[in-house]
Amino acid sequence: MKKMNEDIEKILISKEDIALKVKETAFKISGDYLDKEPVLVGILKGSVVFFSDLIREMNISLFIDFMAVSSYGESAVSSGEVKLVKDLDRSVADKHVIIVEDIVDTGKTLSFLKKQLLNKGALSVKIACLLDKPERRETDINADYVCFEIPDDFVVGYGLDYSEKYRNLPDICVLKRNVYEKQN
Ligand code: PRP
Repeated sequence: MKKMNEDIEKILISKEDIALKVKETAFKISGDYLDKEPVLVGILKGSVVFFSDLIREMNISLFIDFMAVSSYGESAVSSGEVKLVKDLDRSVADKHVIIVEDIVDTGKTLSFLKKQLLNKGALSVKIACLLDKPERRETDINADYVCFEIPDDFVVGYGLDYSEKYRNLPDICVLKRNVYEKQN
């Protein structure tokens, strides 16, 4: 049986460093949202690991909900088109919303989501993301809380996938080039 680690070039951010930064970010957000009872909206599926760690480090009253969009499908490059696949379960009208994402790349997904949430009557919409690839940006969107800025490497783990695999790796890792090039 092939082990996932054989496909990994290197660990970019270790689980220990992730845990420290997530705790620090959760503390910052909690301070900004004291008494606001924000709704944290996790974007499926990449954000689930970050989301579950982040909310457990926040010691304020909050709500959670989820949305799913499709843009990349199973391909490594964005089609540029964002579609809503799963909407919120409850209204966010008159609520403070924090979108929780794993990565901001071109920014197209977050531009789309921010607009959607403001159209639903949210009082405010901010963005918390685990990873930011500023050099890939094609829109003027930026996250309000960023755990790590990273170079344009193909990263997997801690929720991030390649072809729906590797999400369960505990560290954020760079995938070996031959893994994603052999399928193209
Ligand atoms: C990834 C990521 C963001 C989006 C960022 O999602 O989770 O939603 O791409 O890219 P952008 O800034 O260029 O729009 P993906 O479509 O890979 O789905 P997943 O969350 O299920 O892995």
